[in-house]
Amino acid sequence: MNNVMTAAVLTRFGGPDVLELHRDWPRPKPRPHQVVVKVTAAAVNNTDIWTRQGAYGLPGDPSAQAGWLGSFDFPRIQGGDIAGVVTEVGPDVSRELVGRRVLVDPALYGSEDLNSSPVGYLGSEADGGFAQYVAVDASHAHDVQDSPLSDDQLACLPVAFGTAIGMLERAQVRAGETVLVTGASGGVGLALVQLAAARGARVLAITSGSKGEVVLANGAAQVFNRDSADLPARIAAAAPDGLDAVADIVGGPGVSAMMPLLRDNGRWVIAGAVAGPVIEFDLRRLYLHNVQLIGSSMHTRVHFRRLVELARTGQVTPLVSSIFALDEIAEAQAEFSARRHIGKIVLRPH
Ligand SMILES: NC(=O)c1ccc[n+]([C@@H]2O[C@H](COP(=O)([O-])OP(=O)(O)OC[C@H]3O[C@@H](n4cnc5c(N)ncnc54)[C@H](OP(=O)(O)O)[C@@H]3O)[C@@H](O)[C@H]2O)c1
Repeated sequence: MNNVMTAAVLTRFGGPDVLELHRDWPRPKPRPHQVVVKVTAAAVNNTDIWTRQGAYGLPGDPSAQAGWLGSFDFPRIQGGDIAGVVTEVGPDVSRELVGRRVLVDPALYGSEDLNSSPVGYLGSEADGGFAQYVAVDASHAHDVQDSPLSDDQLACLPVAFGTAIGMLERAQVRAGETVLVTGASGGVGLALVQLAAARGARVLAITSGSKGEVVLANGAAQVFNRDSADLPARIAAAAPDGLDAVADIVGGPGVSAMMPLLRDNGRWVIAGAVAGPVIEFDLRRLYLHNVQLIGSSMHTRVHFRRLVELARTGQVTPLVSSIFALDEIAEAQAEFSARRHIGKIVLRPH
């Protein structure tokens, strides 16, 4: 068996040039409890770009180059969204898994507790899917053999839909509630729209340009253009009793401008900050109304199992925006950063 593979390897923090394509990178071998997955599709996420740039900052130094946990080990193969086929198994893993189509849970959990949060993820604290093969814990390779979704669609799920499920669960979004979703055309945003609508929530969505039609088609009841001068007033008119929850991946000045749109005891759950991570904020708008501000990072095992069930039964329909070969990773990330896409950008390493 060939011992090498093609991989996009991150060598240091920086621009697209620090991602090196190697055609002779060592192919991973399965350790105990592991399987090796031949990666058929791997989706691109904002976190790949922020990690490449070292854009996570440090407490007290928001502009420091750092990974999401601070320190970061190079070289690293990025890519947390992995669909593929098991090709090899570790010494203690059933050979029946070989040949099985799988969706990989990219989280590295801190304990065996099914509700524990991730303390790392594939592509950051361990090698991920921007390569032809990846070694993962066997319990993280979930069987999706009979899913009606294509491998490209499956690869859209782990990070975006996993994060979206985590946000909706942590904010306890329920049927009949009115929920505002920001950045609604993006990977996490469109997943939030689909999943919140599927729960029976009424979804108000903020998007831009001509993307509104697609966001409506994915389950939003009403869309708002983020460039409208009177955006908060328009949303307030659509939710006269106040919003029950805001599922936010944009952050920036919108947090301060739109927090007053929440009803008393409302929830603001935040998982991203594409419009700016450091903001000024009037705390009185929070405590005087018993609003809960909830930080949300990825998902738990329980959340991911729910997602796998939706994938197996085809109850989610991830939208593939475009597909690139692995050696076009710089182009794929440039397209992602241009933010004209709707849904997810997928790489095919084979
Ligand atoms: N916490 C976690 O576990 C976790 C996991 C995954 C991602 N994230 C974070 O979530 C965020 C979104 O990730 P993603 O993969 O969904 O990215 P994405 O596909 O690029 O979507 C982001 C969307 O935000 C909107 N947007 C972009 N720039 C904006 C601006 N300046 N002001 C307002 N809206 C803007 C755009 O949507 P419209 O054009 O529709 O407005 C864009 O499509 C990122 O910050 C990412 O790091 C966090």
